[in-house]
Amino acid sequence: MKQKSIEDNIVLIGFMGTGKTTVAQRLSELYGFEVLEMDQVIEEGEHLSIPEIFATYGEEYFRDLETNLLVGLQRKNHMVISCGGGAALREKNVAEMKRNGKIILLTASPRTVWERLKDREDRPLLNGHKTIKDIEELMEARRSKYEAAADMTISTDKKTVLAVCEELMEKLKGLEEK
Ligand code: S3P
Repeated sequence: MKQKSIEDNIVLIGFMGTGKTTVAQRLSELYGFEVLEMDQVIEEGEHLSIPEIFATYGEEYFRDLETNLLVGLQRKNHMVISCGGGAALREKNVAEMKRNGKIILLTASPRTVWERLKDREDRPLLNGHKTIKDIEELMEARRSKYEAAADMTISTDKKTVLAVCEELMEKLKGLEEK
């Protein structure tokens, strides 16, 4: 089921574990778009994993890499850009995202995020701070920035990837028709 193409790129933002990577993959199949996974591009550029970048150079260095990547993006169409969970926290990044497409915020409850990430070690900000309460606090601290950046929001709790994609495509069509 390939959908009629939309004009803009799709920029997925949201907290860790809200499904940005998985949804980006599925959307790219449905629309025939290319995926740009920010974390992966940064890892390839540095020849280090995200935890290694944090451990070696610190968070600010990683945040600057995110900004450089977004600023350096060629204006291309037909991309799904899957952003790292902290990328929408800098205003400059959000301005670049807006220049590049429609910004879709994916959300999930702290419990859902915890269930999805509890056995993973690849999110340096959560290592040692991975209780549901920790996740809730960080999510709450970020909420207003995520919401201010988003053109639309989709909850992923208890939904299949396909259901999330279909909801997203429906809402995008609505936005484009306006
Ligand atoms: C981060 C989210 C991660 C990754 C890094 C920092 C964050 O990406 O960029 O660990 O600050 O929320 P995902 O959202 O893909 O997990």
